Amino acid sequence: MELIVARGREDLVKARRGGTVALVPTMGALHEGHRSLIRQARVRADQVVVSIFVNPLQFGPNEDFSRYPRTFESDLDACRAEDVDVVFHPAAEDMYAPDRQVGVSAGQMGRIVEGAFRPGHFDGVLTVVLKLFNLVQPDLAVFGQKDAQQLALIRRMVADLDLPIEILGVPTVREPDGLALSSRNRYLSGDDRRVALALSRALRAGAAQLTPAEIRRTARAVLDEAGPELDVDYLALVDPATFTEVGDGFEGMAVLAVAASVGSTRLIDNVTLTLNPS
Ligand code: PAF
Repeated sequence: MELIVARGREDLVKARRGGTVALVPTMGALHEGHRSLIRQARVRADQVVVSIFVNPLQFGPNEDFSRYPRTFESDLDACRAEDVDVVFHPAAEDMYAPDRQVGVSAGQMGRIVEGAFRPGHFDGVLTVVLKLFNLVQPDLAVFGQKDAQQLALIRRMVADLDLPIEILGVPTVREPDGLALSSRNRYLSGDDRRVALALSRALRAGAAQLTPAEIRRTARAVLDEAGPELDVDYLALVDPATFTEVGDGFEGMAVLAVAASVGSTRLIDNVTLTLNPS
């Protein structure tokens, strides 16, 4: 089937063929991580819709909205190669009316950890994701675990607002040396990239420890070794459902998450681990 490019709600309605629909929301600059989300969608649904929209609402005033990579033609090639049915590529002016008033609040959970460093970011993410859900009306939506707090908040939104959509989280894809794939990796010079490897190294070293205190201490030591070129925003060991810090008695799955800048490139990464397994 030929790939359909839909620009608005009417195009999306016309493209519907019946059967189950999976949505993979993206901001484009597709890489192997996105392609693994698309493959998961492909095996689970009759029709796969990939949205490509660089959402202005989720970028702060000093963030990289204007220089965020836009690679639409090669994104279309990737979608064709993955047998995507529809690419939804709306214009910003069609998504957001100039007099728009109402959006989604990510609440307190959107203001901690990553949200503490990016005020309003998760409100912007949830607002666009809810709009995409309403426009595409998927049965299933697929997101990367690399954005673990985003995934947790989308699950909260679906639960709190009774949205009839299944959410699937897909493991992070990494380079052979451990660097998590990200559209922002293309900003990194060779030297930056070597510094950036401290993130995945720190997570691996932390995850090999047994107690929250040891995990935090070990991961922090690896980040510190990277020196002043790595500007760490946070290292957090949190409950994956709430993103609150876990204490020493915590049992079960936890997420060790890190965010740091190398030069002007800000990177995030995380690993899931199990504490006090019985
Ligand atoms: O993860 C992303 O690429 C974006 O935050 C998303 C979910 C597509 C919303 O703009």
